[in-house]
Amino acid sequence: MTKYSLHNTDLEISRIAYGCMGIGGSWDDSPLTDETISKAINSVSAALEGGINFFDHANIYAQGKSELVFGKVLKEIKGIRDNIIIQSKCGIRFPGDPNPESPGRYDFSYENIIGSTNASLDRLGIEQLDILLLHRPDPLMHREEVAKAFDELHTKGKVRYFGVSNFNPGQMTLLQNSLDIPLVVNQIEISLLHHHVFNDGILVNQLSGKYAAATGIMDYCMLNNIRVQAWSPVALGKIFNPSVDAEKCVKKLARKITDYAEEKNTTEEAIALAWLLKHPAGIQPIIGTTKPERILNSCKADDIELTREEWYTLFTIARGNPVP
Ligand SMILES: NC(=O)c1ccc[n+]([C@@H]2O[C@H](COP(=O)([O-])OP(=O)(O)OC[C@H]3O[C@@H](n4cnc5c(N)ncnc54)[C@H](OP(=O)(O)O)[C@@H]3O)[C@@H](O)[C@H]2O)c1
Repeated sequence: MTKYSLHNTDLEISRIAYGCMGIGGSWDDSPLTDETISKAINSVSAALEGGINFFDHANIYAQGKSELVFGKVLKEIKGIRDNIIIQSKCGIRFPGDPNPESPGRYDFSYENIIGSTNASLDRLGIEQLDILLLHRPDPLMHREEVAKAFDELHTKGKVRYFGVSNFNPGQMTLLQNSLDIPLVVNQIEISLLHHHVFNDGILVNQLSGKYAAATGIMDYCMLNNIRVQAWSPVALGKIFNPSVDAEKCVKKLARKITDYAEEKNTTEEAIALAWLLKHPAGIQPIIGTTKPERILNSCKADDIELTREEWYTLFTIARGNPVP
């Protein structure tokens, strides 16, 4: 698989990454089962077979079990740690943590960033994360606290590089302004069914409230050498198998994806992901399927280059309207 150089790092990252949210089993405090472990080994093996070297985590996935099972996979598939890049996230806290009445919330306090990262390292059974992301913007963020936590994690060798997720340009500027090290990643939701970041540029001076939240994210990241990662890149499979009551445009999109896959002798997953890869920012889709066959189908996107006409055909169908 083609690799990107991640700006401001020495990392060479596969063009497609594997998201580990689904490999930890159920989102509760039940213990890991042998079945979950064996399925996780199969998923990670398929990702490696497809040429993926980048694995995305968060402390909260399956309430910690995704990191835990990945730690077991690292022991099972010997020697992979040095050849892969492990990214995790912190900053989201579940309702009930630490008291029954505590609400679900974001927490970028120094204590939470340090505590959460140490817990992730323990579960993964590793000494160092390659990248740590702040998961979702915390309105109560004190930049100096984040800077202090990042500095300590970096100095102690616990985290090599840092980034954010679901941040807008203002939030990135604000945080970067207090950091000595550059943010290298912003992970946001993008897919054919969640394409606001592209509409944003097309609807300049015509923005409806619906799209305003995406204003300028792609441009900011490109200008500042921040790699954009796309979460839910196939919209949880809805673009391939729309429900009976899905909008007409979604059903039409699914048919067009199938047509292109047949024409190009490739897979539907490859077409949907090639649509993201076409963007000049060099978007890195974070695929989340747990099925080995679908993982390998997804990796085929690296071989597909859509034409401008095909890109706009899919975009136009997905947005339900021609471009203005
Ligand atoms: N930063 C954030 O806020 C954030 C939020 C959400 C996710 N993420 C990251 O992004 C990764 C991907 O997210 P996602 O799982 O929502 O993304 P996705 O790749 O769009 O969706 C994968 C899901 O769709 C299902 N699916 C059904 N048909 C499929 C097909 N033909 N091909 C592929 N998948 C199909 C999969 O089920 P099967 O497993 O049965 O195939 C799986 O549940 C996560 O693992 C996580 O690392 C980040």
